[in-house]
Amino acid sequence: MTLPSPKRPPVSLEAAEAIAKRWPTPFHLYDEAEIRRRVRELQRAFAWNRGFREYFAVKATPNPTLLGILAGEGCGADCSSFAELVLADRVGLRGHDLMFSSNATPIEDYRLAIDLGAILNLDDISHIPVLDGLLETWPETVSLRFNPGGVFAVTTDIMDNPGEAKYGLTRPQLTAAVGQLLERGVKRIGLHAFLVSNTLAEAYYPKLAELLFGTAVELQRETGCDIAFINLSGGIGIPYRETEPAVDIAAVGAGVEAAFAKILSPAGMGDVAIFLELGRWLLAPAGCLIARVLHLKDTHRRYAGLDACAANLMRPAMYGAYHHITVLGREDAPRDHVYDVTGGLCENNDKFAIQRELPELRPGDLVCIHDTGAHGHAMGYNYNGKLRSAEILLTCDGRARLIRRAERLEDYFATLGISGLPGDLDSYRERAGLRTAADLDSDPLQTEPLVLPE
Ligand SMILES: Cc1ncc(COP(=O)(O)O)c(C=O)c1O
Repeated sequence: MTLPSPKRPPVSLEAAEAIAKRWPTPFHLYDEAEIRRRVRELQRAFAWNRGFREYFAVKATPNPTLLGILAGEGCGADCSSFAELVLADRVGLRGHDLMFSSNATPIEDYRLAIDLGAILNLDDISHIPVLDGLLETWPETVSLRFNPGGVFAVTTDIMDNPGEAKYGLTRPQLTAAVGQLLERGVKRIGLHAFLVSNTLAEAYYPKLAELLFGTAVELQRETGCDIAFINLSGGIGIPYRETEPAVDIAAVGAGVEAAFAKILSPAGMGDVAIFLELGRWLLAPAGCLIARVLHLKDTHRRYAGLDACAANLMRPAMYGAYHHITVLGREDAPRDHVYDVTGGLCENNDKFAIQRELPELRPGDLVCIHDTGAHGHAMGYNYNGKLRSAEILLTCDGRARLIRRAERLEDYFATLGISGLPGDLDSYRERAGLRTAADLDSDPLQTEPLVLPE
C-alpha cells in the first residue's frame, strides 16, 4: 500500500474558469500526463512477463482520444459490445489488439468481433455451437471466462460471491469446453476471470493468479491444450477517499510474478502471457467532473445544488459511492461547513455527497468531483431531459482540448419525430439566452484547443 495523499484538482480556478467560458460546465476533465504515467507504471510492474499486455476496458471510458493515447502506449482494448468494437477499430486496434468479452451476446456483435479478428472470450459453453454457425473456421486462439462459484476469499476476508455472479463457465464446463474447442481445430486457449470489483487488496491479483495458474496447469494436463494467456481482467480499486491508501501496483505485479514462478514455470508453462483489462485503476484518478454551484438552500439540511447531476456521474446515486470534492480556489480552506451536494434530478438519491464537510460554498463556485475518469461519463443517461456533458483533455503541452462535445438538444430530440424539431430548437434557445446551434461546437476534431493560463 502507498500512503494516503490529499487530492488536488488538475487545474487552477483560473484555468477551470477559462475552460468553462469556452465549454460550459458541467464537463469531465482528463489529465493526459497522468494517464500516461499510470500506464507506464503498470507496464513496469508486469515487465517481468514477456507477453504482458493491458487491454483497456473500453466500457470504463469509451472515448476515442483516450483510447488512442492508451493504444499509443501499447495497450489493446477489451470490448463488450458492437459500439465498443467500432470505437476500438477506429483508433486502429484490431486483430489480437482486441479482446471481446461479452455475455448474452447478440449475433451481430459476434459477427463484427470475428470480422475484426478479436480474441473471443466466451462467457458460456453454449456459445460454442452458436459460433459454429458463424465461423467458417475457428480461430487458433480462443479464451474462456472462468467462474469458480462459491465465495472468493483472500486469507479469511470474503471479497465477493462468484457463486451468485452471472458470468463465466464452471470448472467442469471449462474442461468440456476446451475439449470441444480442440476438436474444432482451436490450438491455443486463454483463461479469464473477473471475481472482485474495485478492491484495494493487493493480494487480489496474486490470489486470482494462483487460482487461474493452477487451473491452467490442470487443463493442460487433462486436455493437452496449449495455454496462451491468463487474463486477470479488471477489478483493482482506487482510493476514492483521501484517507484510503492506494494500491501499490508494483507490489501487485511482484505478487503475480511469485505465483507464476511457483505454479506455471515449474509446469513448463513459463511462456504464458499475462493480460489485464483494467479500467478503473488506470483512468479513474486521471479524470474529474467540474461543476458549478447553482443554489444554496437551508431547510432541514443545508444543500448545495450543482449544474451537474447523476446523469453526468451515476456512481454516488447508484452505489452510494464516495467521490471526494474540492472547491476550486479554496483547496486549502477549512472544511467547516456541512452540505448535501446535489444535482437537479427529481430523484432524492441525486446527491454527489451527503453531510460532507466543505469550505463555505457560494453560488457560482466551481467544484471538482474527483476520480471520475472511469465508469463516470460512460454511465451517463438522459433522465429528466438532462444532457450528457462534454469531455475535455488537459494535454501534456498545457492546453484544454474538446474530446467529446456536450450533448445538445438536437441529440435529445433526434429520436422523437416531433414536427418542427430539432430544426426549431434555436427559437427556444434564443428565448432562454442560450447560444444557438451555429455557435455550439459540433465536431471535437475541428475545435481548436484552448491555451490555459499558467
Ligand atoms: C469483463 C470486464 N473486464 C474489465 C472490466 C474493468 O473493470 P475495472 O474498471 O474495475 O478495472 C470490467 C468492468 O466492468 C469488465 O466487465
